[in-house]
Amino acid sequence: MPNNIYFTGFMASGKTRIGKLLANHLNLDYVDSDVFITEHAGKSIAEIFEQDGEAKFRELEKEAIKEISKKENVVVSLGGGAITKSENVEVIKNTGILICMRAEPEILCERIGRNNNRPLMAGLDPEARLEKIINMLAEREKFYSLADFSIDSNEDPPEKHVLPRILDALKLWEYLAVRVNLASGEAYPIFIGKGILKYANILLKTLKILPKCEMLVCTDSNIAKKQKKNFMMICQKAGESKNFIFPAGERSKNLEKLNSLWTFMLKKRYTRKTCLLQFSGGVVGDMAGFAAATYQRGVSFVQFPTSLLAMVDSSVGGKVAINHPEGKNMIGAFYQPQAVVCDLSVLKTLPKEEFHAGLAEIVKYGIIYDFYFFEWLEKNASALMRKDAAALKYAVQRSCEIKAEVVGIDERELGLRAILNYGHTFGHAIEKLTNFNKLSHGIAIGLGMRIAGRLSTIMGMWNEKEESRQNELLNKFGIPETLKERGIKIDAEKTWDAIAGDKKAEKQTRVYILPLEIGKVVKTSAPSKKQVFEALEVVL
Ligand SMILES: NC(=O)c1ccc[n+]([C@@H]2O[C@H](COP(=O)([O-])OP(=O)(O)OC[C@H]3O[C@@H](n4cnc5c(N)ncnc54)[C@H](O)[C@@H]3O)[C@@H](O)[C@H]2O)c1
Repeated sequence: MPNNIYFTGFMASGKTRIGKLLANHLNLDYVDSDVFITEHAGKSIAEIFEQDGEAKFRELEKEAIKEISKKENVVVSLGGGAITKSENVEVIKNTGILICMRAEPEILCERIGRNNNRPLMAGLDPEARLEKIINMLAEREKFYSLADFSIDSNEDPPEKHVLPRILDALKLWEYLAVRVNLASGEAYPIFIGKGILKYANILLKTLKILPKCEMLVCTDSNIAKKQKKNFMMICQKAGESKNFIFPAGERSKNLEKLNSLWTFMLKKRYTRKTCLLQFSGGVVGDMAGFAAATYQRGVSFVQFPTSLLAMVDSSVGGKVAINHPEGKNMIGAFYQPQAVVCDLSVLKTLPKEEFHAGLAEIVKYGIIYDFYFFEWLEKNASALMRKDAAALKYAVQRSCEIKAEVVGIDERELGLRAILNYGHTFGHAIEKLTNFNKLSHGIAIGLGMRIAGRLSTIMGMWNEKEESRQNELLNKFGIPETLKERGIKIDAEKTWDAIAGDKKAEKQTRVYILPLEIGKVVKTSAPSKKQVFEALEVVL
């Protein structure tokens, strides 16, 4: 995703110098937005301020950023106030990553004193200048915090101290694939790539989690064995972190196991300055996330998903929960991670069945939101089944983009987000009736999608042709056509009752997400019991 690299920060924070150094080092073009403005306006910044005023300057700056963003692979140093305008930030973030250079006010004051060409500081003695800098920094902090990450630029010379830090950070940040932007203004990055786990330390440092927080790495018993090397490496990169291992499997996703983590953390005296890093599938992701949301009223949380399903679904969007004997994911919270790191190479050890389960969730995104993605999946099904790296990367990225878009609009499932539950009303019922131990979650959802598709066609809302297209794709991705194939028998009446217990059931009404066409679904409670029973036939 990163195309251009933009530097922001206060005046004299080193944006220009470091921008040039970086461009030179990476052999990229360099643009200084202030120089760009000067050249186009035919006068200096000081003259624009003096003759036309700050408002005119900001207008010219906006146009300049728009123009510069059309270039590819450039390093850009922005003027100090450029990111105070949200239109500029949008353009910048759509075309690259934004790095904030930060230096102590005293250092900035001293640097500014050496150069009297700064209109906003003109005529001020050092004391007044320092006071103004401190005030302006406080005012602009809300804008600087919009940067993807910050770099300290206190020490000189920058080529020795600052450039290596930026190059180090870019080792991970060049894998930035998606940003989740929530309506609250909160945002977090999703990184996708192969072999990127080794940059765990860079992530934690650039997000300022390290050295501030004590780390605790969580995983499950399978992954601790099958991904032993990576697991140990992450613990080491997280500052020789302690770890906590849950027994693998959906049946661990309960209060007792969660309590064992809370107890461990309390006994080891973890404080609020803790970060839980989860390196696992969706089960531990949901549990560690709930622990992070609740431990001492909330600690930091980062997701390193290891299953395909966790990469494309459970690690993104902030739903965290445990199961209750009365239903799945009944006790939980909305709690967003600070970052998600999807290292596709860990999928090598993922059991085939679990890989297929993740593919079912990927098909879901095509059906609920994006016809073209669905078509792409049809064309690339065999590449995905052989884990072709480029195909896998695109499928994970597009799925995360769709989830990020939906969650960005409706974080708390007050409306649109419900579409992500396509296949879940039936899938959850199947999981419950099979005691959460016969089918993996994604496979149950795949079967649920078959039932939901059938139901929609029965109701005259969808058509056989598109329903078959969905089912053909699920077949290609190894999703069973029936429960019988897996030696499982469930009762239609019990399924009907289990659907009412699903938390999507909104009191006594059973709620379904049903396709209208590939790429579009609707939430409805219109189906009758008879129609649901008829639809269930397709997988029984
Ligand atoms: N929070 C959400 O928004 C959300 C969304 C979808 C699903 N979920 C939840 O996610 C869970 C399902 O996630 P899941 O399918 O990842 O289940 P999971 O965590 O149980 O992982 C599936 C199995 O694969 C193993 N595994 C995972 N990664 C591996 C790897 N790289 N190598 C070897 N083995 C590996 C695990 O040990 C486990 O046995 C369910 O509890 C579901 O409710 C949550």
